[in-house]
Amino acid sequence: MTSIEARTETVPDVANLPVNPAADPAGDLATAVAAALTTVRRNAVAFGDLFPDDTTRDGDYPLRPAAEGFAEGANRGWTTCFWTGLQWLAHEHTGDATDREVALRQTADFARRVHAGEDLDTHDLGFLYTLTCVTAWRLAGDEEARDAALAAADHLMTRFLEPAGIVQAWGDLSDPAQRGRTIVDSLMNMPLLTWAGEVTGEPRFAEAVRRHVEQVRTHLLRPDDSTFHTFYWDAETGEPLRGATEQGAGDDSCWARGQAWGIYGFALHHRTTGDPEALVASRRCADYFLAHLPADGVVFWDLVYGDGSDAPRDSSAAAIAACGLAELASVESDPQRRETYAGAADRMLRALVAGYTPTVDEPSDALLLHAVYDAPKNKGVDEGCLWGDYFYLEALTRATLPGWRSPWWPSDAEGGDR
Ligand code: GLY
Repeated sequence: MTSIEARTETVPDVANLPVNPAADPAGDLATAVAAALTTVRRNAVAFGDLFPDDTTRDGDYPLRPAAEGFAEGANRGWTTCFWTGLQWLAHEHTGDATDREVALRQTADFARRVHAGEDLDTHDLGFLYTLTCVTAWRLAGDEEARDAALAAADHLMTRFLEPAGIVQAWGDLSDPAQRGRTIVDSLMNMPLLTWAGEVTGEPRFAEAVRRHVEQVRTHLLRPDDSTFHTFYWDAETGEPLRGATEQGAGDDSCWARGQAWGIYGFALHHRTTGDPEALVASRRCADYFLAHLPADGVVFWDLVYGDGSDAPRDSSAAAIAACGLAELASVESDPQRRETYAGAADRMLRALVAGYTPTVDEPSDALLLHAVYDAPKNKGVDEGCLWGDYFYLEALTRATLPGWRSPWWPSDAEGGDR
């Protein structure tokens, strides 16, 4: 691999970045993109073929710790895809062959992982393979990556449970405590199944997505427009049982990141299927989220907290919501709502750029500071995190790169080189 110094020299001049001037008249976002790309490239060199942990520790990413069967820095867990997703975004901004090479090399490890059957007991295969193998197929025509993404989609389908009609979330499917459970985050795992349906022409993928999203909409989205993080069904009879939380402040509270996954996931489902109920669901999640924003526009980790609270913020929820609101605005049929959601996405993104990125006084190898992974377990509280970094750069990319095509969207073309 190239040295840090050599790679840093290739960071594009801000003035030369392909930036939409209408979206960025003052150039603040272009400056933020250049800073982010510099960090992404530096990190790629520093970590080489190894993966960092989910979150920073005291400001910097340690290597992903060793675990049974896995060496330090190995590709396991649900967040490594965001690291590789950042490399693909960097390549889309710069068109640089080295960025593409790094992204392809990291992607190859996801192909290896699925074929080796390593750490696949999770619905997060959607996150893991959309941002890596599907993207490598779409942007670089990588046939091995396409086959690996299809293998991941097939594996994910083994979590689709009849008669509940849900994609089960985590862990051993034979564990009665977990078997009938799904979570709101699962909405973002549906694009992998949608893509697999398009590529194979097999209707079973779209049918599973349709049923799962309907179950999430009718049971996890509450009457007051907030969301449960998780919900249980009786796996044998399909009877809906109860909502609960895993990472929120309480079973009846509204975990901020879950609500953000809801905005984004339902909007994507509306784009894919045209389902009017999904548009309404995304609006409901968005309106609740926006009604619970503190003054600076960056949510606390649970929406029960508001201005005056000393609870930590979750910048990653804000970054996801900024992407979700931009997506919602792009599919919104009502002009007034479109303006509201696009304006809120822009405001949130600018709040993150201005107040939640590293500075000389607060240096970090994360792109975004002050996120929360799992407050109840005291995990990754007030740290940077891989998904926060990814969605921050995705939000910047949506705002600045004219003609950019989201990895979460259905295919509109065969894979191939750009
Ligand atoms: N999808 C897991 C999380 O948002 O923490």
